This record gives sequence, structure tokens and C-alpha cells, in this order.
Amino acid sequence: MSEIDRTQYLIDQEPYYRPVGQEVALYEAAYGVRMPIMLKGPTGCGKTRFVEYMAWRLGRPLITVACNEDMSASDLVGRFLLDINGTKWQDGPLTVAARLGAICYLDEVVEARQDTTVVIHPLTDHRRTLPLEKKGELVHAHPDFQLVISYNPRYQSLMKDLKQSTKQRFGAIDFDYPSAEIETEIVAHEGGVEHAIAEKLVQIAHRSRNLKGHGLDEGMSTRLLVYAAQLISRGVEPRAAAQMALVRPLTDDPDMRDTLDAAVNTYL
Ligand SMILES: Nc1ncnc2c1ncn2[C@@H]1O[C@H](COP(=O)(O)OP(=O)(O)O)[C@@H](O)[C@H]1O
Ligand SMILES: [Mg+2]
Repeated sequence: MSEIDRTQYLIDQEPYYRPVGQEVALYEAAYGVRMPIMLKGPTGCGKTRFVEYMAWRLGRPLITVACNEDMSASDLVGRFLLDINGTKWQDGPLTVAARLGAICYLDEVVEARQDTTVVIHPLTDHRRTLPLEKKGELVHAHPDFQLVISYNPRYQSLMKDLKQSTKQRFGAIDFDYPSAEIETEIVAHEGGVEHAIAEKLVQIAHRSRNLKGHGLDEGMSTRLLVYAAQLISRGVEPRAAAQMALVRPLTDDPDMRDTLDAAVNTYL
């Protein structure tokens, strides 16, 4: 296998991340002992941005894998590919990360089947190894390698959950939507709108979050608020922006849309 270029995975610009609690210090301490970390929280609340920020802060390459149920262990570990000269082994992203000493971020790991998830086991205990069974190689993880997974506890069902034997290999940090004050700051910064507009978008989101479990599966995420703000900063009329970015993605139920549109019209 040819040398992998480590620099392509480095984050050279500081990502904007607004800390909401002790998470930066906790992560740094965990990274210091190379503890595998699980980031728990709803979609669009800042988990991915946090990992990007931490990888930049620690000066480590970051390799992200979006997990899905069709993913096999080979998609993580690697496989033999056919080419004109015969077969050639190609490392998967997890193997590349283990060799390079990158932070490997498995996003929404619950989506992957359990027989896929178990390949991370030997990497997440004292062994820190990754067996490439088809190739007959045992990769010893680089000393800088760390595994991070994200996990949305709300989607969890008996059919789709991590096994205890997987969960209990990780330290966990809880994420949630930030307080109104901090979220306003984030939306204003990321969306390029004035504080007053960001504040109103956050108020609309709070309305929707209160409807969770009463007709909505999830409330409006910080990500959607940023989208709405970006539309507004591009000159879209605020109500139209909120309908497009906040209400329409969330639900198809006509009554619920009316309720949310009414909230939009109250604040904007
Ligand atoms: N604490 C934060 N600091 C900066 N931006 C944030 C923060 N939380 C959320 N965001 C914004 O929300 C968007 C969605 O966050 P993301 O990290 O992609 O969510 P998740 O990975 O939890 O689904 C980001 O692109 C960013 O604009
Ligand atoms: Mg994410």
C-alpha cells in the first residue's frame, strides 16, 4: 500500500465552535488517554462541529464516516479490489485512521448493523488493534488514533441500539440544543443575521421543541435555525425563510404545519 497523505485530513482553519459547558476540557482529558468517546444528542445540535473543532485544536487529522444500514464491515476496514494487475487491497476509512493516527468519527453509528459495529471492538480496548481478516494483517493503531461515535438516543429502539458490549467501551458526552442565549449567538454568527432576528428564530424553535412528543418527533434543530438565518441574510422575507427552513422540513401534517406557521407569524 502506498503512503497515505496525512495532511489531506488536517483541518487548517479553526472551525467556529461555541462551547456550551465543560465539553472541551472533558474531550481533551479523554483524548489524553485515547479514550473512545460517544457524543450523544439530537440531530443538528453541534456534535459534528464539535469534533471538527477538537480535531483542529489537537492538530489531528479527522476522518468522518456517515454510517448507514447497508454498510458492511468491509466498508470500514477495507477490501480487495480488482484492477488490471489482479487484486489490490484498499484500506477502508477506519484502517486509514488507525494507521495515520487520525480521529475517526463514525457518525450515527446506530444506523450500522451490529455485525458491522463489532469490528471496532479490538480498537476500543487495551489491544488497540484492527484485524484485517481477509488480508491476514493485524494493524496496530498509531498512538494518536482515537475513535469517536455519535449517537441520537431518541431514535433508539430494541431493534436498533448499540449492544452493551459496544456502549461500555466509550466515555460519553451529552449534547443538547444550547440555552437560548448561546443558541442566539450561534445563529447570529453562522447565519449572518442581527441578534434580534436570531433571537426570534430561537423563540420559534423553543415552541416547536415543546411540541416534541405531542405530534412532532423532533423540534427544530440549531442547524435549521442557521438555514433560516442564512436565507434571511440573503434577502428572503423572514416568514418565507422560516416556513422553508423551519416548518416544511419538520412535518407534513397539515394541522401541525398550521400550528408552527402561527408561531412563525407571532414572532416574525
Ligand atoms: N456549539 C456550536 N457552535 C457553533 N456552531 C454550532 C454549535 N451548535 C450547532 N452549531 C451549528 O449548527 C449546525 C449543525 O450542527 P452539527 O454539528 O452539524 O450537528 P449534529 O452533528 O449534532 O447533527 C452547525 O453547522 C453549526 O452551524
Ligand atoms: Mg452530525
